[in-house]
Amino acid sequence: MRVLVIGQGGREHALCHKISKSPLCEKLYCAPGNGGTAQIAENISIQAEDIPALVHFAKQNRIDITVVGPEVPLALGIVDEFQKESLRIFGPDRSCARLESSKAFTKDFLMKYHIPTARYVSVTTFEEGMEALRQFTYPVVVKADGLCAGKGVVIAENKEEAVSALKEMMVESRFGEEGHQVVLEEFLKGFEASIFCFVSKGRLFPMVSAKDYKKIGEGDTGLNTGGVGAFSPNILLTEEHRKQIYEKIIPKIEEGLIREGLLFDGILFIGFMIDGEGAKILEFNARFGDPETQVVLQKLDSDLLELLDKAVEGTLQKQDFYYNNLQWMTVILTSKGYPGNYEKVKLITFSDIIDSEILILHNGTVQKDDKLFTDGGRVLSICAGGETLEVCREKIYRAIKGISFEGLTYRKDIGCV
Ligand code: AMP
Ligand code: GLY
Repeated sequence: MRVLVIGQGGREHALCHKISKSPLCEKLYCAPGNGGTAQIAENISIQAEDIPALVHFAKQNRIDITVVGPEVPLALGIVDEFQKESLRIFGPDRSCARLESSKAFTKDFLMKYHIPTARYVSVTTFEEGMEALRQFTYPVVVKADGLCAGKGVVIAENKEEAVSALKEMMVESRFGEEGHQVVLEEFLKGFEASIFCFVSKGRLFPMVSAKDYKKIGEGDTGLNTGGVGAFSPNILLTEEHRKQIYEKIIPKIEEGLIREGLLFDGILFIGFMIDGEGAKILEFNARFGDPETQVVLQKLDSDLLELLDKAVEGTLQKQDFYYNNLQWMTVILTSKGYPGNYEKVKLITFSDIIDSEILILHNGTVQKDDKLFTDGGRVLSICAGGETLEVCREKIYRAIKGISFEGLTYRKDIGCV
């Protein structure tokens, strides 16, 4: 098969890495890709949002299947445009992408199907927001409805912070249209877990669990990021949690999606908060997550390309998914300053202490004349598998000592549970 992966992060490098190993893969392209994908696929200089150019490329190059990494092209309707041209693509159409691109849409869906989630009120004016605040205690969570690159969620500790978040979103239009509708939500305590489900013709095929680390600082402090570390499986989940998630919640989601006609072939990524009462849904994403993909795909022993192909074909079965017994973990090396301002184009070097058991996936790198440079806030995902998280930690943190670039920053507590 001739395959096109769209995007340029660690998730896309992980997808390319796994797809390139499939005997079914004849040719692999990545648009636009990064310094890591360049080593295993042909990078194409088309941006992920340039839908007409991507359609043209897929037709010209007889692409058999396209896999979309990031959320923005999905929300823009890339799948609709590919399907109009009878091009096979893995991802939700624009209507189904609302499961990620509108938090109000998702909350209404969860309520309608009695799926556990935080209590919420969704509002469309600042005045409504002020009024609704009275129904909550603090902290309260203020969420812009639309896609805000991970910056649209504010955990307000008091009324002043909540009002200021509402004002920024609804009056000052910090996120433009995306923040004109807001969801106010009860704050949930607990720990988070993520589960990717393959979705095919109305059926959900949940994968192994993962945990990501969203905060930049050790001990889960500081600003929210796209994710700076992850492990899979999520060993914090008990058998009871797993039963609730896999046997109760996921079947309800499946039923809801069918009843609502939300049919697509792609990924439904479910973010959970687990507390004393059990699992509640925080959010849906309609794509693979970054950095969870870096670990979940290492845990997966099945042929990923075959899974993607079968999902689009409608022939996927539960037994197509199988996993190794290892614990997997990744630590993300970031540029100093991320998630705020940071500098790019710093030379990256590797010493020979890095052994072959370590998998280095690139998040934000660019290759120039045989040299590798930083090209983003998240730069590299250092991944390893082992019997336990402790073994993974030992391997990964040892390898990191052999990597350098100016401003290299990372959390030292990934995998400490
Ligand atoms: P979301 O994009 O809705 O997943 O929100 C981003 C992050 O904000 C989540 O991964 C949580 O860490 C945090 N968050 C969102 N909603 C809540 C909530 N109701 N209670 C506590 N934390 C939350
Ligand atoms: N790791 C969370 C995300 O991809 O949005």
